[in-house]
Amino acid sequence: MTLSVIVVAAGSGERLGSARPKAFVDLAGLTLLERSLGPIVDLDSVDQVVVVAPSGWVEPAQQLAAHVLGDAIALEVVEGGATRTDSVRRGLESVDDSASIVLIHDAARCMTPREVFERVIAAIEEGAQGVIPTLDVVDTMVPRDRDTGVTHAALDRDGLAITQTPQGFNAGALREAYATFDGDATDDAEVLRHAGLDVVSVEGHRDSVKITYPDDLDALHAVVVGAPNLRIGVGVDAHRFETGTSMVVAGRVFESSQGLSGHSDGDVVLHAITDALLGAAGLGDLGTHFGTSRPEFAGAPSPVFLDKTLEMLEQRGYRPQSVSVQYIGNEPRLGAVRGELSDALTALVGAPVHLSATTTDGMGLTGNGEGAAAIAQALVVRHESSAEPGK
Ligand code: CTP
Ligand code: MG
Repeated sequence: MTLSVIVVAAGSGERLGSARPKAFVDLAGLTLLERSLGPIVDLDSVDQVVVVAPSGWVEPAQQLAAHVLGDAIALEVVEGGATRTDSVRRGLESVDDSASIVLIHDAARCMTPREVFERVIAAIEEGAQGVIPTLDVVDTMVPRDRDTGVTHAALDRDGLAITQTPQGFNAGALREAYATFDGDATDDAEVLRHAGLDVVSVEGHRDSVKITYPDDLDALHAVVVGAPNLRIGVGVDAHRFETGTSMVVAGRVFESSQGLSGHSDGDVVLHAITDALLGAAGLGDLGTHFGTSRPEFAGAPSPVFLDKTLEMLEQRGYRPQSVSVQYIGNEPRLGAVRGELSDALTALVGAPVHLSATTTDGMGLTGNGEGAAAIAQALVVRHESSAEPGK
């Protein structure tokens, strides 16, 4: 038995929306392509791997794949086509003539465990022409009209299965089936069925999800690393009290004979939160983006800084998860409005914000009534599919 594995990696990953083709997106330090090849190396029975790469990515694919596969497995890297079917066709042309079994695997299913490959190979060795890994359907399935949204009577779930890859084939049957097929098929089993051949199923695996949307990648990051890709940031701000200035704290104006001085409205709570968010995303600090060197921000209400910061985070793939902020000052007393202010800050940040307040027992900067300060911590999650590779 001679075994070749085609790994199709030529898709653009449109639904993932990343800056590079999906197979070259990083998941906790390794690309999806590298991860998808991992279990293939562990199989010990593979003679050849054919990687199908997007146009312009053959060289990077060659380097990544050669690094994972080492010398023991022959490697071919070819350019893919416009559809998955085209890409498989091109991969098939590079499969060794001597191959008796061909497996076809999606690089997008980069977490498929070795046991699934083994089950597929075993079934082909036992004589099946085509084999696919499947899972039972757990949700109720109904036909739905995409245009009208109207749904119809539920399908018999027991008679349905979810399909995965690698799909395995008797090499001769697969070649023949592709030779007589000139359409576009959802997968390779479908091409075999079109040729009138049976495709049997073996048990798939829940980890073998096809990465399609950004959330899929985030969920897998949690599986690989044991935690989501969280980053923490800290922000501290302090301003002097000044008579004749309005007292703005946490976005609210308080009645007082004095207020907090500053380049903007002196809102130490919002400044500390903004700084903590910038820090968590590794984007510098408040001074870098909105400091005195940016006169256009003089006197600007602090929510403007926060909004701009949230925009920057979003562009770079970070989403705030939670913020804790503490106001340190003798006045204004925040106890009675703490809940309301927390709610308002939560709405501004788009993630839970908890505001607390304290005095410093008459000591130091804020205790002697010279001014007020705030300290904040922000937790953000980084999307794996974000445009800029992780720092
Ligand atoms: N694929 C391919 N060539 C294509 C299209 C898809 O080799 N022209 C591969 C993908 O690289 C992926 C597998 O087929 O490993 C399954 O496709 P899918 O998950 O749909 O990936 P993409 O087509 O890249 O994603 P999208 O449909 O969101 O653009
Ligand atoms: Mg696709």
